[in-house]
Amino acid sequence: MNREQISRIAHTGHPIKAPLDDDSVHRLLTRALPRGDERVLDLGCGTGEWLLRALVARPEASATGVDISEDALSRARDGARARGVADRLALHRRSAAEFAAAEPFDLVLSVGAAHAFGGLLPTLAAARKHLAPGGHVVIGDGFWERTPSPEAVEMLGDFADLATTLDRVAADGWTPVDGHVSTREERDAYEWACWGTLAAWALDHPDDPDSAAALATAHLRRTEWLRVYRDTWGFLTLVLRRGPDAR
Ligand SMILES: C[S@@+](CC[C@H](N)C(=O)[O-])C[C@H]1O[C@@H](n2cnc3c(N)ncnc32)[C@H](O)[C@@H]1O
Repeated sequence: MNREQISRIAHTGHPIKAPLDDDSVHRLLTRALPRGDERVLDLGCGTGEWLLRALVARPEASATGVDISEDALSRARDGARARGVADRLALHRRSAAEFAAAEPFDLVLSVGAAHAFGGLLPTLAAARKHLAPGGHVVIGDGFWERTPSPEAVEMLGDFADLATTLDRVAADGWTPVDGHVSTREERDAYEWACWGTLAAWALDHPDDPDSAAALATAHLRRTEWLRVYRDTWGFLTLVLRRGPDAR
């Protein structure tokens, strides 16, 4: 069973691939789409869930998603058809860092995909290249709520604490106009949704050749979450605009 198959099953019950609940996603999108006719770009869009929700909520908006996973993009395409927004969604299979567009975007999203750029600030630099004057960026990335173990850093990456993360973002010329720190409930719900759904799939498909591997993966990932990072890792989603002096 490859990573994409695991991810597809694990996210069945939590289509946003990040620890935010539906109300949090709705609130952040509402804040980042003040006009209603925005051009929206998602760098590392996955199955396009943020874009699909934006397009449903804003019938005059249009959206572009970029991801390297054909499997995820094909599910984004299906989702767009099912929700009647396919005519306003363009999808590109390529590395987000290589994506180029003729026109800028009013909203650039990148949630849970900063590893594709090498971290938070490089992701913001990429978003900025695509951003129209006065536009918004919605970026979601990890931070350390408490001092992590070396094992947690090795597993999840080298984040900063919350205040330092915001200082770095501000020093880079961005002004947070809204934000959301995922609650313990949202983080737990996300992990339970992923590894519980994968385990349930394995139990429901005992004759599938991948059943045992899926169950073992669910057990391993749940154990890593509980033993390595549940008490130290946090997730932050920011709504940003360029500051008055930043270009
Ligand atoms: C954790 S998922 C987040 C998906 C989506 N933003 C969401 O919140 O539902 C990270 C996504 O980044 C994509 N990705 C990883 N490396 C990438 C790259 N170099 N260029 C574009 N997408 C990339 C993965 O395929 C995956 O769909």
